[in-house]
Amino acid sequence: MNLCEKNQQWLDDVWAKLQTKMSAEVDRIGDKIPYVPEDGVYKKDMSTGNDKKEGSDLYWWTNGFWPGMLWQMYNATGDERYKKAAEGVEEKFDALLAEAIGLHHDVGFMWLHTAVADFRKTGCEKSKIRGLHAANILAGRYNPDGKFIRAWNGDRIGWIIIDCMMNIPLLYWAYEQTGDPRYKQIAMHHADTAMEKIVRADGSSNHIVALDPDTGDVVDYPPCQGYDPKGSWSRGQAWAIYGFALSYKHTGKQEYLDTAKKVAHYFLANVAQSGNIPLVDFRAPAEPVMYDTTAAACAACGMLEIAQHVPEFEKALYENGAINMMKATMEKFCNWDPNYDSILGGGTEAYHAKPSGIEVPIIYGDYFMIEFILRLMDKDLFVW
Ligand code: GLY
Repeated sequence: MNLCEKNQQWLDDVWAKLQTKMSAEVDRIGDKIPYVPEDGVYKKDMSTGNDKKEGSDLYWWTNGFWPGMLWQMYNATGDERYKKAAEGVEEKFDALLAEAIGLHHDVGFMWLHTAVADFRKTGCEKSKIRGLHAANILAGRYNPDGKFIRAWNGDRIGWIIIDCMMNIPLLYWAYEQTGDPRYKQIAMHHADTAMEKIVRADGSSNHIVALDPDTGDVVDYPPCQGYDPKGSWSRGQAWAIYGFALSYKHTGKQEYLDTAKKVAHYFLANVAQSGNIPLVDFRAPAEPVMYDTTAAACAACGMLEIAQHVPEFEKALYENGAINMMKATMEKFCNWDPNYDSILGGGTEAYHAKPSGIEVPIIYGDYFMIEFILRLMDKDLFVW
């Protein structure tokens, strides 16, 4: 991407610090699986849990992001340490595929950044099979009458969530590999339903919508990760921006790009009210002020994706919007000390999370920040 001199200098500086930081982290962490550090140290290894319940350690939805960071760094640098550690995590996930209990819609986040990234980069046949296995699990969650992929397990049978827009690229990939249109049909039916029933007319998005599992009719807006069901959870808006932009990339369906743009405009208008750093929920009360930097990093990647599909004269809106937001966010929240685990602080799990999940470094914040930086440098590995 062509950047002005000032942004290019900023980018060169960030890239130098990122290489130092990630080099230290891969030596310390290897194929352990980090999530949130405590006092600057990843004390917990998410791969050590074994109770095989949804939400427990190895099953946790964020476990693909560290290997995703490793594949991005391997792609950009060729340093074999990153590849070896990423392959280690990918193998650990085989235990999940063998048991499957506890897996849900987030198999996209987990296998796109491990097996699919490996296959895209190396052509490894075993990785391709792993990715297809995960895609079959995702496709098996499809509700044909309601035309959506159900979220989570247990009694949430009719739930659809905006986050899943980031999981369906696994189905587009499976379609590309097999030529079987059912993968793409399921992904597009889900995206169509999300567009109709989750995204609002003003460009904001719900997080969760409960549908009647027999008819697909809306029955409820359950409590969610934003302030309340009428809120506008910023990470959910980010999932919508990037998710619909990706569905457009894979299908060429114009409404998906229009939806991504609509939510991006809403996001940029709101983030301008809070110093270019997103609040956790754009419709929460003015106090307390709580940020979520992970929303900035994901939305920024989505805006760069949108910029790839719009005419030349429109690109600056999305590119400059993303860069200004990430510069402000990273300036305030990055820790580049190579001895400190994690980079981007200020991430928030949910508006009503425990204090340990509010304005802390969360692994997916680092993943999307790295993808964003490498996208600007044209050195990213496309994993979606
Ligand atoms: N997909 C769950 C979250 O964004 O927290």
